[in-house]
Amino acid sequence: KKVVLAYSGGLDTSVILKWLQTTYGCEVVTFTADLGQGEELTPAREKALLLGIKPENIFIEDVREEFVRDYVFPMFRANALYEGQYLLGTSIARPLIAKKQIEIARRVGADAVSHGATGKGNDQVRFELGYYALEPEITVIAPWREWDLTSRTRLLEFAEAHQIPIAKDKRGEAPFSVDANLLHSSSEGKVLEDPAEDAPDYVYQRTLSPEAAPDVATLVEIGFQQGDAVSIDGELLSPATLLTRLNELGRANGIGRLDLVENRFVGMKSRGIYETPGGTILLAAHRGIESITLDRGAAHLKDELMPRYAELIYNGFWFAPEREMLQAAIDHSQRFVTGTVKVKLYKGNATVVGRESPYSLYNQDLVTFEEGAVAYDHRDAAGFIKLNALRLRTYGARARKIPD
Ligand code: ARG
Ligand code: SIN
Repeated sequence: KKVVLAYSGGLDTSVILKWLQTTYGCEVVTFTADLGQGEELTPAREKALLLGIKPENIFIEDVREEFVRDYVFPMFRANALYEGQYLLGTSIARPLIAKKQIEIARRVGADAVSHGATGKGNDQVRFELGYYALEPEITVIAPWREWDLTSRTRLLEFAEAHQIPIAKDKRGEAPFSVDANLLHSSSEGKVLEDPAEDAPDYVYQRTLSPEAAPDVATLVEIGFQQGDAVSIDGELLSPATLLTRLNELGRANGIGRLDLVENRFVGMKSRGIYETPGGTILLAAHRGIESITLDRGAAHLKDELMPRYAELIYNGFWFAPEREMLQAAIDHSQRFVTGTVKVKLYKGNATVVGRESPYSLYNQDLVTFEEGAVAYDHRDAAGFIKLNALRLRTYGARARKIPD
């Protein structure tokens, strides 16, 4: 029996590690991903060694480029937002972690995988739908749904009994639960649970408040190629480097904060604080370049499909055929989404102030108030309006017949 655990090196997943060894008596293989969460990964290795994991069973991988190139960017081609606001920073990282765990399970001949998500949330669903889609016969162990370490005290007791080091600040209750990666930080629970109460300021960790941001605007020019951002101010950058750079710009200008009550897939509402600085700039810019390069029919259809696509990602269906179908349609729409967008960053706002493309559909000659455009004859508009008015006139005429 061998199990591949998604291991952060933190207290909770360290307890899970020991619990898997003692309860299931299985050989534990750890996988720790650098998704850009901004934490050193060497301590995770040292802790795994300390907890008795063999060096050949410790897997640590920098997946930042893959994360942005193969997950974040495809999602941004869709302008995906869950319930109108959430940029899906946690949701989009889970399928990648699941995929890596399955790859490692195959490599080391493990028959099971495990994660540290609770039994009440979305993350368990996302991890496990990913596992099953990629390895249909895999065994899944979700300790939070099985064990009796349901209180902090019991968890700490277990940690102490098994010589798991406990950071000083972890002795008390953590004030809230955090998930972070290159795209966002999310904070939920505890002091944030009452949606009537303002989030305390210390919750925010990767953005200045708009009030504290500079009084002068920053202008940034983002280059796109076929729907993906490729450069900032003319400098070509790799996906992860580009998002890192946008995060810095967003942080300094107080961009991308969100306080949201959302509907979890499992049925409950939850309140979260999100910070998605670079992603918020990227979404505005992408919509900017699409505004001149997409035909109206294509653009409107994309906007209709978007909520459906976002919901699939939120609910954990990244590897489902319907997500792949939508992705194919969305990717197809991006063939001419190439050009540059000027964005103004100022006190929490990312505003598009200019856009240009070699494939622009914008026709100044057509739209101008000056005399122009042979392709457009004003007189055609009269018939266009008349025919569109036909049923409205019929409807209006009948309305007069209603007795008062
Ligand atoms: N509610 C968000 C989502 O479902 C964030 C989840 C955060 N996860 C965490 N372990 N704190 O995508
Ligand atoms: C968790 O319950 O593990 C985090 C929150 C979520 O998955 O929605």
